Amino acid sequence: MRIIVHNAKCQGHARCWAQAPDIFNLNDEGYILPGDIDVEEKDELLASRGARSCPERALEIDCS
Ligand code: F3S
Repeated sequence: MRIIVHNAKCQGHARCWAQAPDIFNLNDEGYILPGDIDVEEKDELLASRGARSCPERALEIDCS
């Protein structure tokens, strides 16, 4: 699974990080770092919870 990060939509809510701090990395201002995230199978539940928690829909789940 992959998380596609839409940086322009991030408003720094940090809910993704609160759910999965080892998967979602934020910068010093609390915004998600650029670059899509490859998620290992064991982390998929946590990663999808984090992605779905973003109120700005900045984190798109790609299962293809
Ligand atoms: Fe940004 Fe959404 Fe996370 S606004 S910091 S991607 S919860």
